[in-house]
Amino acid sequence: MAKRVLVKYSGEALSGESGFGIESKILDYLARELKTLVEAGIEVGIVIGGGNFIRGVSVSQGGLIRRTSGDYMGMLATMINGVAMQEALEYYGLDVRVQSALEIKEVCETYINRRAIRHLEKGRVVIFVAGTGNPFFTTDTAATLRAVEIGAEMIIKATKVDGVFDKDPAKFDDAVMLRQIGYDQALKDNIKVMDDTAIALAKDNTLPIVVCNMLREGNLLKIIQGDSGAVYSKVSNEN
Ligand code: GTP
Repeated sequence: MAKRVLVKYSGEALSGESGFGIESKILDYLARELKTLVEAGIEVGIVIGGGNFIRGVSVSQGGLIRRTSGDYMGMLATMINGVAMQEALEYYGLDVRVQSALEIKEVCETYINRRAIRHLEKGRVVIFVAGTGNPFFTTDTAATLRAVEIGAEMIIKATKVDGVFDKDPAKFDDAVMLRQIGYDQALKDNIKVMDDTAIALAKDNTLPIVVCNMLREGNLLKIIQGDSGAVYSKVSNEN
């Protein structure tokens, strides 16, 4: 069983049907799922995107807002999501610390790697917000970076699909889900699990990327415990 993991959610994951903002029902569900991990003795880091409020790339497309500013706006959005998740996890009795790559100390702690690791060792969930603190990097890249920095054994990308398929399952009935893909294959096939920067960083550090469906109840714990009933795809070194 993995001892320390980083779970990455998209911002849209929190918004449900509406695609905007935070839906309490989903936040509540995710918090309950994450609680099962902590109860099993797993150390959990979390990164949440900010796309349910703003996406740097999209907001800057019209040319009125520069990409750099758009990305900073996106980083602030991840802070909103992180604070919301902290509240939800605390509601269920967990100890949680939010650490930000941008210093806004009235809202949360600033990211300090050694401190984050101490929090994890003490059984606290650590939510990393504000991406890497730099524009032009996605939250997937930020999540991968934090996963490597805290020595997570895997990064779990919780999505709305079960895993990675050989072709688009929405278009092809015979699409097959792939259980394992090499980093190079993932990059070559442009499988869009994560952006290339994130995959390359994972590859350089031999960090497995697990892709799974966040809506499958209990699946997250099964994956980490190595349960044979777990449903996921894994990007890792080919064996
Ligand atoms: P220990 O060192 O193990 O006691 O960890 P701790 O996080 O409980 O200690 P600390 O006294 O650093 O933090 C107490 C509370 O204040 C925690 O909820 C922290 O998240 C919070 N906190 C610490 N530093 C900051 C900060 O710079 N800004 C904000 N907003 N909260 C902070």
